[in-house]
Amino acid sequence: MKNTLLVVPIVAGAAGLICIAVQTRPALARTQSPEELLAQGRHLVTNVALCGDCHSPRLGTGGFDRARWLGGAPIGFNPVVPMPWAPVAPPLAGLPGRSDAEVVALLTTGARRDGTAPLPPMPAFHLSEQEAAAVVAYLRSLGPTP
Ligand code: HEC
Repeated sequence: MKNTLLVVPIVAGAAGLICIAVQTRPALARTQSPEELLAQGRHLVTNVALCGDCHSPRLGTGGFDRARWLGGAPIGFNPVVPMPWAPVAPPLAGLPGRSDAEVVALLTTGARRDGTAPLPPMPAFHLSEQEAAAVVAYLRSLGPTP
């Protein structure tokens, strides 16, 4: 009887500790499938960072020319005050002539790897490495615009 009284709290206590240990274990980083990475990249490009607003050509009606989505485009507006300005946004579809690493560096730091930055109106993005990798995976998946 005396032993039972002792054993029950010990067992209950041990079980409690195990529960706490399981709950407080840091969430293991779940590996994203390639499809999830692409979907995240598409979402960031299309709905969050709006890369297409500058990098996609438009039709006469003002809508995007979907056949040339992210195929590079002239910037259709001017700065309000004179400043260094890039009149053209280069093609992003397929990321022609660019390595994954250089685009990830640009999107995580806002600058190129040599420390220089693209001219306005290209924004200085500060994405996480993971978000930048998703954007690169999506852009690469598009293949170059014909
Ligand atoms: C407001 C307009 C605008 C938006 C939005 C924009 N860009 Fe740009 N981007 C530009 C312009 C303009 C340039 C050309 C800059 C230059 O020639 O110096 C450029 C250049 C670039 C370059 C080439 C950089 C280099 O080394 O010369 C990459 C890569 C790029 N953009 C990726 C992106 C991505 C990815 C997004 C979305 C996450 C994005 N841009 C959103 C306007 C924009």
